[in-house]
Amino acid sequence: MKLKVGLLLAVLSVGGLLGQDEAQFPGWMKTIGGNMGATKKAIEAKSVDAATSAAKVADAFDKVHGFYKTKAVSDAEQAAATAKGAAADVARFAQAGEFDKASTAFAALGGTCKGCHEAHREKAADGSYKLK
Ligand code: HEC
Repeated sequence: MKLKVGLLLAVLSVGGLLGQDEAQFPGWMKTIGGNMGATKKAIEAKSVDAATSAAKVADAFDKVHGFYKTKAVSDAEQAAATAKGAAADVARFAQAGEFDKASTAFAALGGTCKGCHEAHREKAADGSYKLK
């Protein structure tokens, strides 16, 4: 009996964690959206600030990747991994002052958004977005 209660509690707490992650998801995407704009401007201005904002994008995609890994949604997990890698490349090149390469990596990063949104994002009636 004790074992069963323990098991139940474990299942509930895992469920709770997942719920929490889902609640955090829009925040990660907002971080990504905001820092994509900042990164684009900084690359155009050849500013090393692009490294800082791109690192925030990479960090947020790391969380998105973990989220989809836990949920075992393989295409989204792959897309998040690609995005994370591209964002890390942008940060690395910007840090090194190689803005042409940063710009190419930024284009690859931007190329990851649409496919995942089409497959996994849904627009609610009130205009907000949700997971699907
Ligand atoms: C691995 C899948 C995936 C990738 C890759 C992805 N997104 Fe998203 N995004 C989602 C999902 C699912 C939602 C809907 C849930 C939400 O709003 O958080 C979303 C929502 C958003 C939102 C709306 C946030 C809100 O709720 O107001 C923005 C902004 C956004 N994404 C920006 C981006 C940008 C920019 C990129 C590319 C650099 C990107 N996303 C790449 C899955 C992804």
